[in-house]
Amino acid sequence: MAKDVCVLLGTGSIGQAIIRRIGAGKHVVLADLRIENAEKAAKILDDAGFETSAISVNLGSRDDILRLIEHSHKFGAVKYLVNAAGVSPSQASVKDILRVDLYGTAVLLEEFGKIIADGGSGVVISSQSGHRLGALTEEQNTQLATSPTEELLTLPFITAITDTLKAYQYSKRCNVLRVMYEAARWGKRGATINSISPGIIITPLANDELHGPRGEGYRKMLSLCPAKRAGTPDEVGDMAAFLMGDKGRWISGSDFLIDGGTTASYWYGDLQYLKASH
Ligand SMILES: NC(=O)c1ccc[n+]([C@@H]2O[C@H](COP(=O)([O-])OP(=O)(O)OC[C@H]3O[C@@H](n4cnc5c(N)ncnc54)[C@H](O)[C@@H]3O)[C@@H](O)[C@H]2O)c1
Repeated sequence: MAKDVCVLLGTGSIGQAIIRRIGAGKHVVLADLRIENAEKAAKILDDAGFETSAISVNLGSRDDILRLIEHSHKFGAVKYLVNAAGVSPSQASVKDILRVDLYGTAVLLEEFGKIIADGGSGVVISSQSGHRLGALTEEQNTQLATSPTEELLTLPFITAITDTLKAYQYSKRCNVLRVMYEAARWGKRGATINSISPGIIITPLANDELHGPRGEGYRKMLSLCPAKRAGTPDEVGDMAAFLMGDKGRWISGSDFLIDGGTTASYWYGDLQYLKASH
């Protein structure tokens, strides 16, 4: 029997925390570049009473995104989309970050915006990193928000990027602008779309960083941020559940910074010293 379908791209801790809150009673499609990650998440969620299927998908490929839609439609109408897939500045090259985080997310929103069900909702996990980029010009904002997806990676100020942190920051800024642009299109289908920009969230990778060779810098930053700690995947999950639930129906095209006050402190408080390295 057809069910509402909930699609998760990127089956790490943040994605799983969101699914635990919105996926009960639905068919949950778990998509990841690494099928072993999707299958691992499927086992955990199946054992907790969810109905899932796992599929290998590269967010940086339109063909893969179309294949994901085809797979999802086998189970019913797609009512929820969560994009928690991505690569970080310490994991990937400039080219790969722009291809996956910037272009891939834009294509995902474009293609799911054609099929999302009435009453549906989407959330994109962006990052506080996008909030550390200074103001762009109005023209740059418009280009990132509205350029045809196939032209995004040829914009001159994007092709000029040479370091991975900038590639990540521009990608995450683009996610937020693209969500605004898509909110108008998704609204015509009766659906909402928003982004969440988390600060440091403890995941296995972040935990390694925190206790690894560069850990001291991270620990100093966290001790100086207003909340004096890192965030948890569950706190991001709660935010997403609100946005995607009944109480979030009047919210669309917005970005929600959830970082314990870190960005505020980066610009105007004790963390201003970080500006020298960004
Ligand atoms: N953890 C944090 O501190 C933090 C902070 C801010 C933003 N984020 C963002 O949250 C999202 C999820 O991060 P996470 O910390 O849960 O990371 P994670 O590495 O645990 O999960 C990301 C998942 O995305 C998958 N993935 C990578 N490239 C892919 C691709 N091309 N196509 C499909 N899947 C791909 C990985 O295999 C992995 O399973 C990312 O977009 C990241 O930028 C994380």
